[in-house]
Formats: sequence, structure tokens, C-alpha cells
Amino acid sequence: MTKVTVLGAAGGIGQPLSLLLKLSPYVDELSLYDIRLAHGVATDLSHINSSVKVSGFEPKDKNDQQAIKQALAGTDVVIIPAGVPRKPGMTRDDLFNINAGIIKSLASAIAETAPNAFVLVISNPVNSTVPIVAETFKSYGVFNPKRLFGVTTLDIVRANTFLKEYDSSLQGVESVKVDVIGGHSGETIVPVFSTSNARDIFAKLSTDQKKQLVHRVQFGGDEVVKAKNGAGSATLSMAYSGYTFAEALLRAVKGERGVVEDSFVYLDASIPGASEVRSKTGVDYLSLPVELGPQGAVSVQGGILTQLDTEEQRLFAIAVNTLKKNIVKGVAFVNKVK
Ligand code: NAI
Repeated sequence: MTKVTVLGAAGGIGQPLSLLLKLSPYVDELSLYDIRLAHGVATDLSHINSSVKVSGFEPKDKNDQQAIKQALAGTDVVIIPAGVPRKPGMTRDDLFNINAGIIKSLASAIAETAPNAFVLVISNPVNSTVPIVAETFKSYGVFNPKRLFGVTTLDIVRANTFLKEYDSSLQGVESVKVDVIGGHSGETIVPVFSTSNARDIFAKLSTDQKKQLVHRVQFGGDEVVKAKNGAGSATLSMAYSGYTFAEALLRAVKGERGVVEDSFVYLDASIPGASEVRSKTGVDYLSLPVELGPQGAVSVQGGILTQLDTEEQRLFAIAVNTLKKNIVKGVAFVNKVK
């Protein structure tokens, strides 16, 4: 029996993500929590004749903690797309003031009710919200670094898609696989085209085309925010990406070997490979290829850092610099309001 809970399930990401989870062969029970409309979304999805059992939970008022506790009871995986999205002109960091408090309170509820669940954080700014979850869990004495993941999969999906646009002969979602390391906002996003399975396509691009491609991956979210004209940020491509990561984790949990996904994780000494990456980069959290298994992160594959070309090394140094500040901001938020 695998139970997945979505916190923020009635939002732009939450709804299509919940739809994908309702169709998933890896899920038995789906629990939807939101401060509004969760019952409605759950009822709607429950009419789809897949075998996944769906329930919706909404608090009666802002002091009601029962609904979230019911939603989280016995859950194996929690996915968090709760919070506000960007409007035109906003960076992900601008969301901090609102989303930090939301994430901290949701992390507290998880720590109390489902401390052993895998937690997948989608809410931005991921570079800070993941440290907020970790610090909150630490304050409850329940932090397991192998089970906390910042979802950066959309950056990989974009890198794959945008690189593929340069060669029309490539078909299918699996034809290009680019790792994206660093963090999940602007210049902290570092696509590593030089080691991808389509590096030959990248190598043929002009210097300008390479620059444009990297910039498009780093700031691809802005294209969506602008095109939606103030009505939100990426939701459908994000739901696809969030589901892709969740499915990979569930496959690994169910025993599939060799599952590797890029994710933003805490570089704890208990994860093989993490200490080396930490001392090499000086950051406590980083997105990089992570091997997944039944207990979560099996190892981090820091070898990619030794394979970066000169330009990628330059971009990675910029990323690390900004990332450090984003991480400190998340850590300080929890310790300040404790
Ligand atoms: P949205 O506004 O459409 O949905 C957010 C949902 O969260 C709403 O239904 C709202 O009622 C709910 N919510 C707010 N406070 C809550 C609380 N305390 N408990 C439970 N639910 C709560 O926003 P959207 O577009 O779904 O984006 C959600 C988040 O995902 C944003 O922070 C956005 O920046 C982020 N995002 C992350 C991406 C990534 O690659 N990791 C990509 C795109 C967006």
C-alpha cells in the first residue's frame, strides 16, 4: 500500500499533479490537502475509474490542525506545491516572505504526523524552502536527509526540450538527458550539456547559441510567467516534472535498481559521496544526480563536478555563491521564528 499526500492540491500545480498521481500504477491511496477546494478536487478525481483511492481534506478554520493530520496520517510520500506563484517581474526569491511561513507550518505538521515520509518540495524558492523543511524537522528531532528532496526536475525537462529543438531528428522524451545541477532559480541553475547524451548537438552550436540555450534553461520559467500574463507560473510542465520525480522515487522504493534523478538535497555525511561534494563546493545543499533506493537517497554522484567544461565551471561558481545566501536565508528563517 503506497499513500501519497499532496499539500496545496487544489492549486495550479496541485490539480494536474494529483491527476497524474490518480493515474499512477505506483500509488494506492491519494490524499489531497489544501486550505480551499480540496474536497472538490478529490471528488472530481474520484470519478476517474482508476484503482487509486482519493480523499480531500480542508481545515474548518485557520486554527484547525485536524484536517492536515488526517491528510498526512500513514502517508509514505508528501509532495508540497503549496504557496504563491510568481507574477511578472518577480524572482523566486521574492516569494520567500509568504511561502517561508507556509512551508514551515506544513513541515511542522509533517514532523508531527508523518516524520518518516519522503518529502518532495516544489514550493519556491526551493533553494530556501528545502532548508526550511530540514531545519523544522531538526527542531523536532526527526530530520532524515535521505528522505528530503527539492524538486528541480523542471529544469532538466526544460534543458532536454530546449536542446532537442536544435536537432529535429531527435524524438521522444527519453532521447535527450541533460543533468542540471546547482539550485533552482536563475543563475543557480547550471545545465551540464557537456556530459549529456546529446553533447554532440551542443558541441556543434555557436558560442551565442550555447549562451542563449543556457540562459533559456536558467530563465525558462520567466517565459511562462510572461505568457500567462500575471495569471501564474509554470503549472502543467511542473506537474509533469513533479510526477516524473515522484514516480522515479516510488519505483526505487519498490525495489527498482539504478534509479538516478537530479534533486536538491542536504549533503549529509550519512549519504555516500555527500561529504566530498560538500568539502569541494562549500555548500550544505546542492542539486546533483542522486541515486534513489528503498530508503531514499542511496548516494550522490559528485563525479559530475569533475567533468564540467570551463564555461560550466564558471557558471557553477556563480551558482554556488548565490546558493549559499539562499540557504542561509532559509536556515535563519526557522531559527529566528522558533
Ligand atoms: P497556486 O496559487 O495556483 O496554488 C497554490 C495552492 O497552495 C493554492 O491552492 C493554495 O490554496 C494552496 N495553499 C496556500 N497556503 C496553503 C497552506 N498553508 N496549506 C495548504 N495549501 C495552501 O500556485 P502554483 O502555480 O500551483 O505554484 C505553487 C508553488 O510552486 C509556488 O511556490 C511556485 O513558485 C512553485 N513552483 C515551483 C516550481 C519548481 O520547479 N519547483 C515550478 C513552478 C512553480
